[in-house]
Amino acid sequence: MSSYAARREALTTYFDRTAVEAWSRLTSDAPVSKIRATVRAGRDAMRGTLLDWLPADMTGKRLLDAGCGTGALAVEAARRGAEVVAIDVSPTLIGLAQERLPAIEGPGSINFRVGDMLDPWLGRFDHVVAMDSLIHYQTPDIVRALAELALRTNGSVLFTVAPRTVLLTLMHAAGQLFPKSDRSPAIVPVAETGLRRRIGREPVLQGFEVGRTRRINSRFYLSQAFELARVAPQDEGRRP
Ligand SMILES: C[S@@+](CC[C@H](N)C(=O)[O-])C[C@H]1O[C@@H](n2cnc3c(N)ncnc32)[C@H](O)[C@@H]1O
Repeated sequence: MSSYAARREALTTYFDRTAVEAWSRLTSDAPVSKIRATVRAGRDAMRGTLLDWLPADMTGKRLLDAGCGTGALAVEAARRGAEVVAIDVSPTLIGLAQERLPAIEGPGSINFRVGDMLDPWLGRFDHVVAMDSLIHYQTPDIVRALAELALRTNGSVLFTVAPRTVLLTLMHAAGQLFPKSDRSPAIVPVAETGLRRRIGREPVLQGFEVGRTRRINSRFYLSQAFELARVAPQDEGRRP
């Protein structure tokens, strides 16, 4: 089994069984501990950042919410008119997302799916967002996943990684304070220079450039967003 597939299986068990209660609560309005409140605030800021990098009007645009969890980002994109495909390996989280789905006014829609975000049958997209769904994978697997997603994307692929910092190391130590049953499969810290180098070397990503980046740090939540934007095709007519 590839390292990507092995990690995906561990994450399925974690998000579908081990942590489903905690994750359901974190992604709701229910009261949470002070530590988890900082995580919730950080995640809200991250979702806001990624949404800011998408067009304000997404009418007629297809968006893939890759690893959608309980679907908060998918809902906001659909409210902007997007046709959203929201996929997650956890059937339980997809069930929760469907239960929580508010009425979407306007032309937007959400098609919730259980499965792997890299499934080619999902079709082509204008934008792909992978918020905190690649943070448990090794850097080579992240870049391969980005390449597969980019192959099917006309516009941009927005994703997050856990940046390799001294702080993250300290947070991992603090993570030991959580009950063992609540601990997630290890988050893999990613060095930004190595990530950019691998993206630069990946043949499929030659048509893309790393655009905006933003790190969100709210004490117990640390994650960095990147925008991979398709470079406009050269105008053949203007070439010498
Ligand atoms: C930390 S949660 C984030 C969920 C959501 N994006 C959010 O920000 O609320 C990561 C999610 O990615 C999903 N996931 C991980 N690997 C996946 C894969 N290969 N395909 C689909 N979903 C995946 C997990 O099941 C989990 O729900």
